[in-house]
Amino acid sequence: MRAVVIERFGDPSGMAVREVPDPAPASGGVVVEPEAIGVGGVDAVIRRGTLGGYGFTEGLIPGSEVAGPVTAVGEGVDPSWLGRRVWAFTGTGGGYAPQAAARVEDITALPRGLSPVDAVTLGSAATVAHFALAHAHFGAGERVLVRGAAGSIGIAAVELAARGRAGAVAVTTSSPERGERLRKLGATLVLDRAGRREAPETGPRAAGPRPSGEGDGRDAFDVIVDIVGGDGVPAFLDRLAPNGRMVVVGAVAGMPPADFGARLLRSFQQSRSFATFSLDTVPVARRNAVRAELFEDAANGRLHPVVDAVLPLDRAAEAHRRMDDGSVFGRVVLTP
Ligand SMILES: NC(=O)c1ccc[n+]([C@@H]2O[C@H](COP(=O)([O-])OP(=O)(O)OC[C@H]3O[C@@H](n4cnc5c(N)ncnc54)[C@H](OP(=O)(O)O)[C@@H]3O)[C@@H](O)[C@H]2O)c1
Repeated sequence: MRAVVIERFGDPSGMAVREVPDPAPASGGVVVEPEAIGVGGVDAVIRRGTLGGYGFTEGLIPGSEVAGPVTAVGEGVDPSWLGRRVWAFTGTGGGYAPQAAARVEDITALPRGLSPVDAVTLGSAATVAHFALAHAHFGAGERVLVRGAAGSIGIAAVELAARGRAGAVAVTTSSPERGERLRKLGATLVLDRAGRREAPETGPRAAGPRPSGEGDGRDAFDVIVDIVGGDGVPAFLDRLAPNGRMVVVGAVAGMPPADFGARLLRSFQQSRSFATFSLDTVPVARRNAVRAELFEDAANGRLHPVVDAVLPLDRAAEAHRRMDDGSVFGRVVLTP
């Protein structure tokens, strides 16, 4: 088969379409013929080559989520999966190809009415968003900030927080236009990347009681879901209300400063908490059950996948260029 291979770490020009062996289903595994392939932020991080320490080497096929019919099953796998359309997690690679292998416990059947493109937009991202909010013990009425809201995880977090009757849903984003799009998905307060207000707050608590905390009170948050990380982490810790919880799920801007914990400790009288969250720590059956519910929600119009662009697989490098230049809103999807 002809798949996309990272021949050279660095910029997207190091990606090329190459002839590679077809995958065979492992014992307990399946092969899927992708009709849609999600381009994740993590694919770009792997391509840049900064994760060498995690065992990534040149020559790998990127891509961790695909959707399409099961075309082969391995030993021990129920043959009734054959021909069924599924979403599949392929691990940290193997997705940018016309055939992709996955473990059977990492596939979720697509409900009627959900397209493969929408499935790879939500399959990982919305599931991460759901569990990140749960990890933060988010409850109705609380003020939530989604930092880095314009990506597929952030968009899902905004929708889920709004649906969970958050008292406010604040977002950080890089332009007022993006802020407007996020408002249509449930955001009530748009901040710039540094956390400054771009426009007045709207929504249920815009003129309501103010929780105590930093600034004018209304700028304090009970929950921060952070996809960005980087140098900004300490300043956003200061935006937590008393008993507020910040959960970092991504680090698109890199690692926070090494002494960020000191900032947290200096405000110990505020009882703030900082946590990381990875889907890897959620039992696979629980992950799959939540993903199946989110897919049903999307099929029934209760969750809205935001697809930035659908490109042919052989234009994967262009998809990565768009990821790198920051012009993507939502998810880029490849089709073989
Ligand atoms: N925890 C888990 O289980 C899990 C699972 C999968 C992926 N991930 C992680 O999630 C991240 C990718 O998520 P994603 O695809 O939703 O994100 P993304 O689209 O790569 O980025 C989200 C948004 O962050 C903003 N941003 C980018 N660089 C920034 C910077 N330097 N400073 C401030 N804001 C910046 C951009 O929006 P604006 O331009 O509008 O500001 C961007 O749209 C990766 O770190 C990946 O490893 C975690």
